[in-house]
Amino acid sequence: AVGDAYRAWLRYAPLLPDQAKEYAPWCGKIVVASSGTAPLLAPAVEELAAGLGSMLGREPRRGQAADGEGCLVVGTLDSAELQGVADDAEAKALGDEGYVLRTVDEPGRRFIAIAGRTDRGALYGAFHFLRLLQTGRPIADLRIAEKPSGKIRMIDHWDNMDGSIERGYAGESVFFREGRFLEDPEDRKRLRDYARLMAAVGLNAVAINNVNVHEIETKLITPELLPSVAKAADVFREYGIRLYLSINFASPIEIGGLSTADPLDPEVKRWWAERAADAYRHVPDFGGFLVKADSEFRPGPFTYGRDHADGANMLAEALEPYGGIAIWRCFVYDCLQDWRDRTTDRARAAYDHFRPLDGKFRDNVILQIKNGPMDFQVREPVSPLIGGMRHTNQLLELQITQEYTGQQRHLCYLVPQWKEILDFDTHALGEGSTAAKAATGELFGRPLGGFAAVANIGSDLNWTGHLLAQANYYGYGRLTWSPELTSEQITDEWARISFGHDPVVIGTIKRMLLESWSIYESYTSPLGIGWMVNPGHHYGPNVDGYEYSKWGTYHFADSKGIGVDRTVATGTGFAGQYHDVPAARYELPESCPDELLLFFHHVPYRHRLKSGKTVIQHIYDSHFEGTEKAEELVKAWRSLEGKIDEERYESVLDRLQLQAAHAAEWRDVINTYFYRKTGIPDEHDRKIY
Ligand code: GCU
Repeated sequence: AVGDAYRAWLRYAPLLPDQAKEYAPWCGKIVVASSGTAPLLAPAVEELAAGLGSMLGREPRRGQAADGEGCLVVGTLDSAELQGVADDAEAKALGDEGYVLRTVDEPGRRFIAIAGRTDRGALYGAFHFLRLLQTGRPIADLRIAEKPSGKIRMIDHWDNMDGSIERGYAGESVFFREGRFLEDPEDRKRLRDYARLMAAVGLNAVAINNVNVHEIETKLITPELLPSVAKAADVFREYGIRLYLSINFASPIEIGGLSTADPLDPEVKRWWAERAADAYRHVPDFGGFLVKADSEFRPGPFTYGRDHADGANMLAEALEPYGGIAIWRCFVYDCLQDWRDRTTDRARAAYDHFRPLDGKFRDNVILQIKNGPMDFQVREPVSPLIGGMRHTNQLLELQITQEYTGQQRHLCYLVPQWKEILDFDTHALGEGSTAAKAATGELFGRPLGGFAAVANIGSDLNWTGHLLAQANYYGYGRLTWSPELTSEQITDEWARISFGHDPVVIGTIKRMLLESWSIYESYTSPLGIGWMVNPGHHYGPNVDGYEYSKWGTYHFADSKGIGVDRTVATGTGFAGQYHDVPAARYELPESCPDELLLFFHHVPYRHRLKSGKTVIQHIYDSHFEGTEKAEELVKAWRSLEGKIDEERYESVLDRLQLQAAHAAEWRDVINTYFYRKTGIPDEHDRKIY
């Protein structure tokens, strides 16, 4: 049964009579207006018809012309019907993806225009219009013009063809099972619904397979599997989404019969040029290749004494004739480190590898940079590589799937974290040089840029396992379109769309979401140090789990102090990779923000934080308080019993209860570890084991 959980933000719940009365006069008829072929108008109209039908109880008619009665006109600004709706300058400013929503209310001319310069713009406009109704906004006097801030707004799936998902917490892949593509009509329908969910929040690019490309997936770029890739691409194309494939850098050897994958070898170049040609033969609007190379045992140009620019440029050259893009990931570090070696700092790695190559990449290469210098921890500083390169396109990579943030068993709403990242001032060109502007390319006038994030969805009926984790996906999409939206705005939208307008319900859910990241942070690893999880699967507390391993993720806790000295003066020098203002702020414990103190400094347990507490007391307090707050989440949700449907109520309740119990486990493991290490008692004499 397809319920509200499956429909997610396209649930289109029936509106209250008052609201319906306000909207209905504009929504009785839809007129399609375009001057040429405009394939994306069909899904726009279909969505409007279905959405309005469900919300207003009556499907709009399809009409030929606006006739002064009040209707919706959906289309492109060059059509006869939409003449004059936007002037030339306004239209030009919309670019290829923007739109206007405009109420025209003149004698003989009464309609709401949902219009772009392109049909793609109109499609995004249609979703925006539907969102206005879903969130109860007025429509009688619309004057909205919007366009996305990032050109590329991408989702990376870490799906394997056996159906498993690397770091997936919501069932199996929606693309693959047992080595093949899922191609039954029902699977197609689900994929199409997924494309709708993506387009509804403005996403326009998808990589369907894991960046760790294993044996079968290496063949995705061959004529054997490209016909199936093409069928998946057809589904996404209908919603304006371009499909990308993750590739294996060693493909020329593994499937090409060559003896090398050296990016400067003419035969290797020719081989990749042929693969690109094949890909575009099957998928004319193929997006390009996504590459994890020389990273965590993946092959790459280093084997041949070449650098990342050689590797990325070779692929970009192959894709260039077709308008394709090579997305090259910067998650490159020494993953065979000796924990005794204090000179190597994993945090430095991405910048050290890529910064010297700035200016060497072709224009159709984009470097994909994780938000932090380590790996999607609950708290990290922003990577200094973001805004660190002026002559190179960037994509900011986030992780929606909650690998290190509770694996969708814990509630951890990440939009507030992402907002801090996007708003971070890199000072690359002085004040106001935000990470968001660096990523979109606005800061340095780059031709390409945007955002990518690892998906949190799978075959679970509600897509995300934890129902409330849908908000993370939704929020990611909204932020890639408008990074300036506030967490509060996005949360309010999502809560209303998903749960209606009862102020108690909405208020409670919003509070729960907005506090959840800080709650999760407070009962897990303290003050920016990260890790302290079980190795391998990364769930649950294990303070020394990674302390003596090869991965470069250490906390250096002894009986006197804890933290990593990353200062220029006495440490690894990582703090010096930032531009002047943040570099100075992080260099000194006095100016370093509390929440990142242990990321940048090794301090004694009695070091006093800006909050006035000592580090050790902060650890105790935050773990006791965080666990209490996790229990309060359960109580808050229970207060909504009977106010939301049972299915969604029960499924969330289960997870919140599990979270509360598991938070107590975190609290006890962490507090006990530090109590035993330090022998310093809790000032409040609470139970520590
Ligand atoms: C993390 C994650 C891996 C993933 C890697 C990556 O290390 O645990 O599963 O492959 O990031 O981003 O490439």
